[in-house]
Amino acid sequence: MPELIPQLEKLLAEAQKTLALADEAALSREETRLLGRKGEVNRILAAVPGLPPVERARVGEAANVVKTKLAAEFSRRRAALKNEFASELTEREWIDVTEPGTASPQGSVHPTNAAIEEIVGHFERIGFRRARYGEAEWDHYAFGALNMPQEHPARDEWETFFLEAPAHPMLGRPVLTPHTSNAQIREFERRKPPIRMVSVGKTYRRQSDVSHIPMFHQFEGLMVDEGIALTHLRGVLEYFFRNYFGPARTYRFRPFHFMFTEPSFEIDISCGLCKGAGGICRLCKAGWLELGGAGMVHPNVLRAGGVDPLRYSGFAFGWGVERTWMMRAGMQIPDIRMIYGNDLRFLSQFSV
Ligand code: PHE
Repeated sequence: MPELIPQLEKLLAEAQKTLALADEAALSREETRLLGRKGEVNRILAAVPGLPPVERARVGEAANVVKTKLAAEFSRRRAALKNEFASELTEREWIDVTEPGTASPQGSVHPTNAAIEEIVGHFERIGFRRARYGEAEWDHYAFGALNMPQEHPARDEWETFFLEAPAHPMLGRPVLTPHTSNAQIREFERRKPPIRMVSVGKTYRRQSDVSHIPMFHQFEGLMVDEGIALTHLRGVLEYFFRNYFGPARTYRFRPFHFMFTEPSFEIDISCGLCKGAGGICRLCKAGWLELGGAGMVHPNVLRAGGVDPLRYSGFAFGWGVERTWMMRAGMQIPDIRMIYGNDLRFLSQFSV
Protein backbone atom coordinates (compact mmCIF):
# COMPACT_ATOMS: atom_id res chain seq x y z
CA MET A 1 0.00 0.00 0.00
CA PRO A 2 2.31 2.75 -1.22
CA GLU A 3 -0.44 5.38 -0.73
CA LEU A 4 0.12 5.19 3.03
CA ILE A 5 3.16 7.44 2.90
CA PRO A 6 1.39 10.29 1.04
CA GLN A 7 -1.45 9.90 3.52
CA LEU A 8 1.00 10.45 6.37
CA GLU A 9 2.48 13.47 4.66
CA LYS A 10 -0.98 14.88 4.10
CA LEU A 11 -1.87 14.42 7.77
CA LEU A 12 1.22 16.35 8.79
CA ALA A 13 0.69 19.16 6.28
CA GLU A 14 -2.97 19.60 7.26
CA ALA A 15 -2.15 19.55 10.95
CA GLN A 16 0.48 22.25 10.52
CA LYS A 17 -2.15 24.42 8.91
CA THR A 18 -5.02 23.86 11.38
CA LEU A 19 -2.88 23.96 14.53
CA ALA A 20 -1.59 27.43 13.72
CA LEU A 21 -4.99 28.88 14.66
CA ALA A 22 -6.32 26.23 17.04
CA ASP A 23 -7.44 27.15 20.52
CA GLU A 24 -7.06 24.87 23.55
CA ALA A 25 -10.26 22.92 22.80
CA ALA A 26 -9.45 22.43 19.10
CA LEU A 27 -5.95 21.29 20.05
CA SER A 28 -7.26 18.53 22.27
CA ARG A 29 -9.75 17.45 19.68
CA GLU A 30 -7.10 17.25 16.95
CA GLU A 31 -4.68 15.48 19.24
CA THR A 32 -7.16 12.69 19.87
CA ARG A 33 -8.09 12.48 16.21
CA LEU A 34 -4.46 12.21 15.03
CA LEU A 35 -2.43 10.78 17.88
CA GLY A 36 -5.09 9.08 20.00
CA ARG A 37 -5.18 5.32 20.58
CA LYS A 38 -7.67 4.94 17.75
CA GLY A 39 -6.29 7.94 15.86
CA GLU A 40 -5.15 8.37 12.27
CA VAL A 41 -1.46 7.60 12.85
CA ASN A 42 -2.20 4.46 14.80
CA ARG A 43 -4.63 3.37 12.11
CA ILE A 44 -1.78 3.55 9.59
CA LEU A 45 0.67 1.82 11.93
CA ALA A 46 -1.85 -0.98 12.43
CA ALA A 47 -1.78 -1.63 8.71
CA VAL A 48 2.02 -2.06 8.63
CA PRO A 49 2.16 -5.79 9.49
CA GLY A 50 -0.09 -6.51 6.50
CA LEU A 51 2.28 -4.85 4.04
CA PRO A 52 4.71 -6.64 1.79
CA PRO A 53 8.01 -7.06 3.72
CA VAL A 54 9.83 -4.43 1.62
CA GLU A 55 7.25 -1.79 2.41
CA ARG A 56 6.98 -2.47 6.12
CA ALA A 57 10.18 -0.79 7.31
CA ARG A 58 9.69 2.28 5.11
CA VAL A 59 6.07 2.92 6.09
CA GLY A 60 6.73 2.10 9.75
CA GLU A 61 9.61 4.50 9.91
CA ALA A 62 7.71 7.28 8.11
CA ALA A 63 4.74 6.84 10.47
CA ASN A 64 7.00 7.18 13.51
CA VAL A 65 8.67 10.27 12.09
CA VAL A 66 5.27 11.89 11.42
CA LYS A 67 4.13 10.92 14.88
CA THR A 68 7.12 12.67 16.49
CA LYS A 69 6.68 15.73 14.29
CA LEU A 70 2.98 15.95 15.12
CA ALA A 71 3.72 15.72 18.83
CA ALA A 72 6.21 18.56 18.43
CA GLU A 73 3.60 20.64 16.57
CA PHE A 74 1.13 20.18 19.39
CA SER A 75 3.51 21.19 22.12
CA ARG A 76 4.70 24.20 20.14
CA ARG A 77 1.13 25.40 19.69
CA ARG A 78 0.39 24.79 23.37
CA ALA A 79 3.36 26.91 24.43
CA ALA A 80 2.30 29.67 22.03
CA LEU A 81 -1.22 29.67 23.47
CA LYS A 82 0.13 30.00 26.97
CA ASN A 83 2.23 33.00 25.97
CA GLU A 84 -0.65 34.67 24.24
CA PHE A 85 -2.75 34.27 27.37
CA ALA A 86 -0.05 35.68 29.61
CA SER A 87 0.56 38.72 27.46
CA GLU A 88 -3.15 39.31 27.13
CA LEU A 89 -3.38 39.25 30.93
CA THR A 90 -0.67 41.84 31.34
CA GLU A 91 -2.43 43.93 28.75
CA ARG A 92 -5.78 43.68 30.46
CA GLU A 93 -4.87 43.62 34.14
CA TRP A 94 -2.05 46.01 34.63
CA ILE A 95 -2.12 48.17 37.69
CA ASP A 96 -0.73 51.60 38.30
CA VAL A 97 0.96 51.31 41.67
CA THR A 98 1.34 55.07 41.87
CA GLU A 99 -2.37 55.76 41.66
CA PRO A 100 -3.87 57.00 44.98
CA GLY A 101 -5.87 54.25 46.69
CA THR A 102 -9.59 54.25 47.37
CA ALA A 103 -10.07 54.10 51.11
CA SER A 104 -12.81 51.67 52.13
CA PRO A 105 -15.30 53.11 54.59
CA GLN A 106 -14.38 52.37 58.16
CA GLY A 107 -17.04 51.48 60.69
CA SER A 108 -17.09 52.69 64.25
CA VAL A 109 -18.66 51.67 67.53
CA HIS A 110 -22.25 52.84 67.99
CA PRO A 111 -22.42 55.68 70.57
CA THR A 112 -24.63 53.55 72.82
CA ASN A 113 -22.11 50.72 72.86
CA ALA A 114 -19.26 53.13 73.45
CA ALA A 115 -21.21 54.64 76.37
CA ILE A 116 -21.92 51.18 77.83
CA GLU A 117 -18.26 50.22 77.75
CA GLU A 118 -17.21 53.47 79.35
CA ILE A 119 -19.89 53.49 82.05
CA VAL A 120 -19.40 49.85 82.99
CA GLY A 121 -15.63 50.34 82.98
CA HIS A 122 -15.88 52.92 85.76
CA PHE A 123 -17.83 50.54 87.98
CA GLU A 124 -15.59 47.60 87.17
CA ARG A 125 -12.62 49.57 88.41
CA ILE A 126 -14.15 49.68 91.88
CA GLY A 127 -14.96 45.99 91.96
CA PHE A 128 -18.40 45.81 90.39
CA ARG A 129 -18.79 42.65 88.37
CA ARG A 130 -20.48 42.96 85.01
CA ALA A 131 -23.62 40.88 84.52
CA ARG A 132 -26.22 40.49 81.87
CA TYR A 133 -29.64 38.95 82.17
CA GLY A 134 -32.34 38.13 79.63
CA GLU A 135 -34.58 40.52 77.74
CA ALA A 136 -37.63 38.30 78.01
CA GLU A 137 -38.45 37.86 81.64
CA TRP A 138 -41.14 36.49 83.95
CA ASP A 139 -43.40 38.89 85.82
CA HIS A 140 -41.90 37.53 89.04
CA TYR A 141 -38.42 38.90 88.28
CA ALA A 142 -39.57 42.12 86.64
CA PHE A 143 -42.25 42.97 89.25
CA GLY A 144 -43.38 40.35 91.77
CA ALA A 145 -40.10 39.77 93.59
CA LEU A 146 -39.47 43.53 93.46
CA ASN A 147 -42.17 44.05 96.04
CA MET A 148 -45.05 44.54 93.63
CA PRO A 149 -47.76 42.12 94.70
CA GLN A 150 -49.80 40.26 92.09
CA GLU A 151 -51.99 42.62 90.06
CA HIS A 152 -50.50 45.68 91.77
CA PRO A 153 -51.03 48.62 89.39
CA ALA A 154 -47.35 49.62 89.69
CA ARG A 155 -46.81 47.45 86.62
CA ASP A 156 -48.51 50.13 84.55
CA GLU A 157 -45.85 52.69 85.40
CA TRP A 158 -43.40 50.87 83.18
CA GLU A 159 -45.66 50.72 80.09
CA THR A 160 -44.87 47.03 79.92
CA PHE A 161 -44.96 44.89 76.79
CA PHE A 162 -46.48 41.59 77.80
CA LEU A 163 -45.51 38.69 75.56
CA GLU A 164 -48.16 36.54 73.95
CA ALA A 165 -46.93 33.32 75.44
CA PRO A 166 -48.31 31.07 78.17
CA ALA A 167 -47.80 32.26 81.74
CA HIS A 168 -45.54 30.31 84.08
CA PRO A 169 -47.57 28.71 86.89
CA MET A 170 -45.32 30.21 89.58
CA LEU A 171 -43.53 33.10 87.87
CA GLY A 172 -46.43 34.67 86.00
CA ARG A 173 -46.64 36.22 82.56
CA PRO A 174 -43.62 36.72 80.31
CA VAL A 175 -42.68 40.34 79.56
CA LEU A 176 -39.98 42.27 77.74
CA THR A 177 -37.84 43.72 80.52
CA PRO A 178 -39.23 47.23 81.16
CA HIS A 179 -36.27 47.98 83.44
CA THR A 180 -33.12 46.16 84.49
CA SER A 181 -34.13 45.72 88.14
CA ASN A 182 -34.91 42.06 87.42
CA ALA A 183 -31.11 41.71 87.50
CA GLN A 184 -31.24 42.24 91.29
CA ILE A 185 -33.30 39.10 91.86
CA ARG A 186 -31.40 37.13 89.21
CA GLU A 187 -28.12 38.08 90.84
CA PHE A 188 -29.34 36.99 94.29
CA GLU A 189 -30.23 33.62 92.83
CA ARG A 190 -26.80 33.29 91.39
CA ARG A 191 -24.59 34.37 94.28
CA LYS A 192 -24.74 35.38 97.93
CA PRO A 193 -23.47 38.66 99.43
CA PRO A 194 -21.08 40.38 99.29
CA ILE A 195 -22.39 41.48 95.90
CA ARG A 196 -21.20 44.27 93.66
CA MET A 197 -22.87 44.03 90.29
CA VAL A 198 -23.42 46.24 87.29
CA SER A 199 -25.82 44.77 84.74
CA VAL A 200 -26.58 46.27 81.36
CA GLY A 201 -29.67 45.35 79.43
CA LYS A 202 -32.15 46.39 76.81
CA THR A 203 -35.38 47.75 78.19
CA TYR A 204 -38.72 48.04 76.45
CA ARG A 205 -41.59 50.39 77.10
CA ARG A 206 -44.61 51.16 74.99
CA GLN A 207 -43.74 54.76 74.26
CA SER A 208 -42.40 56.58 71.26
CA ASP A 209 -41.99 60.33 70.85
CA VAL A 210 -39.17 62.84 70.57
CA SER A 211 -37.87 61.99 74.03
CA HIS A 212 -38.85 58.31 74.29
CA ILE A 213 -37.94 55.19 72.34
CA PRO A 214 -39.62 51.81 72.75
CA MET A 215 -36.21 50.17 73.20
CA PHE A 216 -33.40 51.73 75.20
CA HIS A 217 -30.70 50.55 77.58
CA GLN A 218 -30.29 50.67 81.31
CA PHE A 219 -27.47 49.87 83.63
CA GLU A 220 -28.36 48.53 87.04
CA GLY A 221 -26.02 48.75 89.98
CA LEU A 222 -26.37 46.58 93.06
CA MET A 223 -24.22 46.44 96.14
CA VAL A 224 -25.21 44.23 99.07
CA ASP A 225 -23.15 43.38 102.12
CA GLU A 226 -23.23 43.68 105.89
CA GLY A 227 -23.58 47.29 106.99
CA ILE A 228 -24.15 48.94 103.60
CA ALA A 229 -25.74 52.34 104.10
CA LEU A 230 -26.81 55.36 102.09
CA THR A 231 -23.34 56.86 102.46
CA HIS A 232 -21.96 54.01 100.34
CA LEU A 233 -24.44 54.81 97.60
CA ARG A 234 -23.36 58.44 97.80
CA GLY A 235 -19.71 57.50 97.63
CA VAL A 236 -20.10 55.19 94.66
CA LEU A 237 -22.22 57.67 92.73
CA GLU A 238 -19.90 60.53 93.50
CA TYR A 239 -17.00 58.47 92.19
CA PHE A 240 -18.95 57.73 89.05
CA PHE A 241 -20.03 61.33 88.48
CA ARG A 242 -16.48 62.64 88.90
CA ASN A 243 -15.15 60.19 86.38
CA TYR A 244 -17.93 60.19 83.85
CA PHE A 245 -19.18 63.79 83.96
CA GLY A 246 -16.04 65.51 85.20
CA PRO A 247 -15.44 67.51 88.38
CA ALA A 248 -17.48 70.54 87.32
CA ARG A 249 -20.87 68.87 87.71
CA THR A 250 -22.80 68.57 90.96
CA TYR A 251 -25.64 66.23 91.84
CA ARG A 252 -28.52 65.91 94.25
CA PHE A 253 -30.69 63.18 95.72
CA ARG A 254 -34.37 63.99 95.36
CA PRO A 255 -36.84 61.92 97.45
CA PHE A 256 -38.97 59.66 95.29
CA HIS A 257 -40.88 56.43 95.44
CA PHE A 258 -40.11 53.00 94.09
CA MET A 259 -41.69 49.82 95.41
CA PHE A 260 -38.33 48.03 95.55
CA THR A 261 -36.23 50.58 97.40
CA GLU A 262 -36.72 52.29 100.75
CA PRO A 263 -35.81 55.09 100.97
CA SER A 264 -35.97 55.89 97.26
CA PHE A 265 -34.49 58.76 95.30
CA GLU A 266 -34.17 60.23 91.93
CA ILE A 267 -30.71 61.47 91.21
CA ASP A 268 -30.28 64.75 89.37
CA ILE A 269 -27.09 66.11 87.90
CA SER A 270 -26.41 69.78 87.31
CA CYS A 271 -26.99 70.84 83.74
CA GLY A 272 -23.85 70.85 81.63
CA LEU A 273 -25.24 73.50 79.30
CA CYS A 274 -26.31 76.31 81.67
CA LYS A 275 -23.90 75.06 84.36
CA GLY A 276 -26.75 74.73 86.84
CA ALA A 277 -27.96 78.29 86.38
CA GLY A 278 -31.40 77.24 85.19
CA GLY A 279 -33.47 80.14 83.98
CA ILE A 280 -34.30 79.78 80.32
CA CYS A 281 -31.95 76.87 79.56
CA ARG A 282 -33.22 74.84 76.59
CA LEU A 283 -31.89 71.57 78.01
CA CYS A 284 -32.84 71.42 81.69
CA LYS A 285 -35.45 72.23 84.27
CA ALA A 286 -34.16 74.86 86.72
CA GLY A 287 -30.53 73.85 86.37
CA TRP A 288 -30.95 70.11 86.96
CA LEU A 289 -31.20 67.07 84.72
CA GLU A 290 -32.94 63.94 85.91
CA LEU A 291 -30.64 60.90 85.69
CA GLY A 292 -32.63 58.03 87.15
CA GLY A 293 -33.68 56.10 90.22
CA ALA A 294 -31.78 54.75 93.20
CA GLY A 295 -32.33 53.71 96.76
CA MET A 296 -31.71 51.21 99.52
CA VAL A 297 -32.88 47.73 98.52
CA HIS A 298 -36.25 47.04 100.19
CA PRO A 299 -36.15 44.26 102.83
CA ASN A 300 -38.89 42.44 100.93
CA VAL A 301 -36.69 42.35 97.84
CA LEU A 302 -33.77 40.94 99.83
CA ARG A 303 -36.13 38.35 101.29
CA ALA A 304 -37.48 37.45 97.83
CA GLY A 305 -33.88 36.93 96.75
CA GLY A 306 -33.16 34.66 99.71
CA VAL A 307 -30.98 37.25 101.48
CA ASP A 308 -31.52 37.87 105.21
CA PRO A 309 -32.45 41.57 105.63
CA LEU A 310 -31.47 41.50 109.30
CA ARG A 311 -27.92 40.69 108.38
CA TYR A 312 -27.49 42.37 105.01
CA SER A 313 -28.39 45.66 103.45
CA GLY A 314 -27.61 47.27 100.13
CA PHE A 315 -28.34 49.86 97.52
CA ALA A 316 -29.42 49.75 93.90
CA PHE A 317 -29.65 52.22 91.08
CA GLY A 318 -30.92 51.96 87.52
CA TRP A 319 -30.42 54.52 84.79
CA GLY A 320 -30.84 54.89 81.10
CA VAL A 321 -27.60 54.59 79.12
CA GLU A 322 -28.69 56.90 76.29
CA ARG A 323 -29.89 59.54 78.76
CA THR A 324 -26.71 59.43 80.80
CA TRP A 325 -24.61 59.72 77.66
CA MET A 326 -26.59 62.70 76.34
CA MET A 327 -26.34 64.44 79.68
CA ARG A 328 -22.61 64.26 79.70
CA ALA A 329 -22.23 65.80 76.29
CA GLY A 330 -24.74 68.50 77.20
CA MET A 331 -26.55 67.60 74.02
CA GLN A 332 -30.08 68.18 73.11
CA ILE A 333 -30.84 65.70 70.39
CA PRO A 334 -34.06 67.00 68.83
CA ASP A 335 -35.48 63.48 68.56
CA ILE A 336 -34.01 60.68 70.70
CA ARG A 337 -35.12 58.13 68.09
CA MET A 338 -32.31 59.42 65.86
CA ILE A 339 -29.90 57.33 67.94
CA TYR A 340 -31.40 54.23 66.37
CA GLY A 341 -32.27 55.65 62.96
CA ASN A 342 -29.07 54.21 61.44
CA ASP A 343 -28.32 57.47 59.66
CA LEU A 344 -24.56 57.59 59.32
CA ARG A 345 -24.57 61.38 58.98
CA PHE A 346 -25.85 61.45 62.55
CA LEU A 347 -23.86 58.55 63.99
CA SER A 348 -20.48 59.39 62.48
CA GLN A 349 -20.40 62.64 64.47
CA PHE A 350 -19.79 60.52 67.53
CA SER A 351 -17.37 57.97 66.09
CA VAL A 352 -14.37 57.38 68.24
N1 PHE B 1 -35.91 50.31 87.83
C1 PHE B 1 -36.18 51.70 88.06
C2 PHE B 1 -36.69 52.31 86.74
O1 PHE B 1 -36.50 51.77 85.70
C3 PHE B 1 -34.96 52.46 88.49
C4 PHE B 1 -34.39 52.02 89.80
C5 PHE B 1 -33.43 51.01 89.85
C6 PHE B 1 -34.81 52.61 90.98
C7 PHE B 1 -32.90 50.59 91.06
C8 PHE B 1 -34.28 52.20 92.18
C9 PHE B 1 -33.34 51.22 92.23
O2 PHE B 1 -37.33 53.34 86.73
